[in-house]
Amino acid sequence: MAVTKSRTRHLGWLGILLFLAMPVWAQRMPAPSVGPSVAWLGKAKAPASAYAGTATCKNCHSARYAEFSKTAHAHATVAGHTYLHGCEACHGPGKAHAQAMEAAGGSDAKVLAALKSAPIWAFQGTPQQNAAVCLTCHISSKMQEGFQHSTHLAHGVACQNCHSAHLVNPLPKHPAYAQEAMFQVPRLPQQIAWLKSGQLRAPQPDLCFSCHRGVQAKFALPVHHRVPEGLLKCTDCHNPHGTPQQANLREIGWETCERCHVEKRGPFMYPHPAVQVGGCVACHNPHGTINAFLIKRRDTRTVCLQCHTGFHGQDGVPHGRLGFQTSGTCVRCHAMVHGSNFDPTLLR
Ligand code: HEC
Ligand code: HEC
Ligand code: HEC
Ligand code: HEC
Ligand code: HEC
Ligand code: HEC
Ligand code: HEC
Ligand code: HEC
Ligand code: HEC
Ligand code: HEC
Repeated sequence: MAVTKSRTRHLGWLGILLFLAMPVWAQRMPAPSVGPSVAWLGKAKAPASAYAGTATCKNCHSARYAEFSKTAHAHATVAGHTYLHGCEACHGPGKAHAQAMEAAGGSDAKVLAALKSAPIWAFQGTPQQNAAVCLTCHISSKMQEGFQHSTHLAHGVACQNCHSAHLVNPLPKHPAYAQEAMFQVPRLPQQIAWLKSGQLRAPQPDLCFSCHRGVQAKFALPVHHRVPEGLLKCTDCHNPHGTPQQANLREIGWETCERCHVEKRGPFMYPHPAVQVGGCVACHNPHGTINAFLIKRRDTRTVCLQCHTGFHGQDGVPHGRLGFQTSGTCVRCHAMVHGSNFDPTLLR
């Protein structure tokens, strides 16, 4: 008796729980138009009557409309919020603006007056304010969630410095750089590049080089990862939206590198603690150097002697011989400098 009763009571609770959970499922399960990671979180800032609708904006801003309508944003909608997609999802309610401009009838003075009397949000606030509008939705997308604490935002670089919702003003043609002629993948026409690579104002690495001239110079050195040739991207190692890691690296420390250089991952029976202590950058410069294998210093030996100072001459060990500290390279013998499974002294 008691058992049955408690069972039915449990079933009752279960039913109530299922009932409460239903609206959540009902919202989550279809969701294909929302895309893989970003949620459509746009919130109405004003009553529906304050919005004009994209069709109205199109009448006067046909060029921007044409560009905008090719993008992912133009296709993202949410049922029951017709005024929250399209132009006004970013520019906010625009009915007053549309009406004032209609009334201005193209007269310059009246247009200027209308911009004052019925202002519309045009992303001319502080970088934080500008980014905040994009982040109303993109705070839920994995790659962007760190942006508010990123080096870029802290230095006044907002989303619109790199992205364009409607590519009317692309970045000016980038200055030529050393390996330009050796670019090895086809350069897409600007429009297609914009649509295919996250609505960037200019493709990588041009976009990044436009501000990071020092990094550009490194990549012009004889030994470099082939970023200027188009084989690798800055975003293979960095997430420009910000990460908790140093230098906005995508993964913690050397894991960024081991994504591609898997044979350096280990685990090794005898790892070289240098990797754990200083990461790959203890010995390599990831952008470019004049030295083979991206080694930081001209002479590999000096890289080792950064940490390995003061050997005691021992009989039978080559270190005991005269001159080893001043000539030859250590990796001649210590070939498994990244770690070994056979020899604690990394000889093989
Ligand atoms: C009747 C014509 C007309 C309509 C409709 C219209 N605009 Fe405008 N808009 C203008 C004119 C004219 C300007 C000022 C010149 C310029 O920046 O192109 C302007 C300027 C803007 C600006 C820049 C404001 C600034 O302070 O620099 C934005 C943003 C904008 N419009 C967005 C919209 C949006 C979004 C809609 C639809 C809700 C819309 N407009 C509807 C005519 C119109
Ligand atoms: C995803 C957000 C987003 C959407 C959607 C969007 N815009 Fe914009 N718009 C921006 C940003 C950011 C800027 C400022 C930087 C730039 O020019 O890219 C801007 C700038 C503008 C300007 C120029 C303002 C100036 O200072 O001259 C106009 C006009 C404009 N948008 C109209 C529109 C219209 C019309 C639509 C819809 C067809 C639209 N926008 C959709 C983000 C958006
Ligand atoms: C109202 C919500 C909302 C706002 C505001 C918004 N976005 Fe988006 N954005 C989305 C959604 C949803 C998608 C995903 C569409 C999809 O995957 O189909 C998206 C996609 C994107 C993409 C990827 C496009 C692609 O082709 O892969 C970029 C880049 C982007 N947004 C940048 C911005 C920038 C920059 C701003 C601010 C100027 C902004 N967004 C404002 C909702 C928004
Ligand atoms: C310093 C330049 C820069 C800034 C600032 C920036 N982005 Fe990006 N964004 C990029 C690059 C580069 C990509 C990668 C495109 C690729 O992988 O081809 C990208 C990709 C994206 C994508 C595509 C999907 C993805 O996650 O890979 C979205 C969405 C996006 N950014 C939104 C934003 C938003 C929203 C902001 C502001 C909160 C912002 N970005 C700020 C450079 C930037
Ligand atoms: C509009 C200019 C601008 C653009 C475009 C830009 N950056 Fe930056 N970036 C900055 C500024 C400013 C800083 C901070 C000062 C510095 O370190 O030079 C910075 C810092 C960085 C840092 C160092 C972060 C740290 O914590 O030390 C990295 C990494 C970086 N940017 C990568 C990129 C990549 C990758 C791109 C292209 C997708 C890019 N940036 C595009 C302006 C820009
Ligand atoms: C192979 C991986 C890799 C690639 C590709 C790469 N970086 Fe880096 N980058 C790093 C690492 C690792 C650091 C940290 C260096 C350190 O701590 O000494 C760094 C540091 C930086 C810094 C901050 C320190 C500095 O040197 O100014 C900036 C800015 C930067 N990278 C920009 C870029 C830009 C722009 C591109 C594309 C043109 C790019 N990086 C491509 C790995 C990479
Ligand atoms: C996206 C894949 C990728 C990532 C991530 C990457 N590399 Fe590389 N790396 C390459 C490729 C491909 C080469 C072959 C040389 C080339 O053509 O650029 C290479 C070559 C090298 C070389 C040898 C250079 C030579 O002269 O042969 C070193 C050293 C190196 N990488 C170190 C690093 C370090 C350190 C990191 C992390 C900061 C890193 N790599 C991250 C793809 C990557
Ligand atoms: C203790 C210094 C040191 C550290 C730390 C280090 N390397 Fe190296 N690396 C070297 C030296 C020295 C060479 C050149 C080997 C030679 O001349 O035979 C080299 C060569 C390379 C090469 C090209 C030749 C090969 O063996 O494939 C790659 C790729 C590479 N390192 C990647 C990495 C990565 C990824 C990391 C981080 C996990 C790393 N290195 C950490 C010293 C180091
Ligand atoms: C960032 C500092 C650093 C750099 C640079 C470095 N090492 Fe090391 N290395 C270490 C540390 C820490 C240990 C562990 C020492 C210990 O266990 O007593 C170690 C251990 C070793 C060992 C094994 C020693 C033993 O007792 O088993 C060898 C061999 C070695 N390193 C060779 C090299 C060579 C060759 C280079 C240059 C390519 C180099 N190291 C560069 C930090 C470094
Ligand atoms: C001619 C080959 C050779 C060269 C060159 C060489 N080593 Fe060694 N090293 C050895 C051998 C063999 C051992 C193993 C000794 C043992 O088993 O006791 C060793 C041991 C070591 C050890 C661990 C024992 C100790 O003395 O602390 C370190 C650290 C080391 N070497 C670093 C270096 C560095 C740094 C260089 C370059 C400046 C270098 N070696 C150059 C052959 C060499």
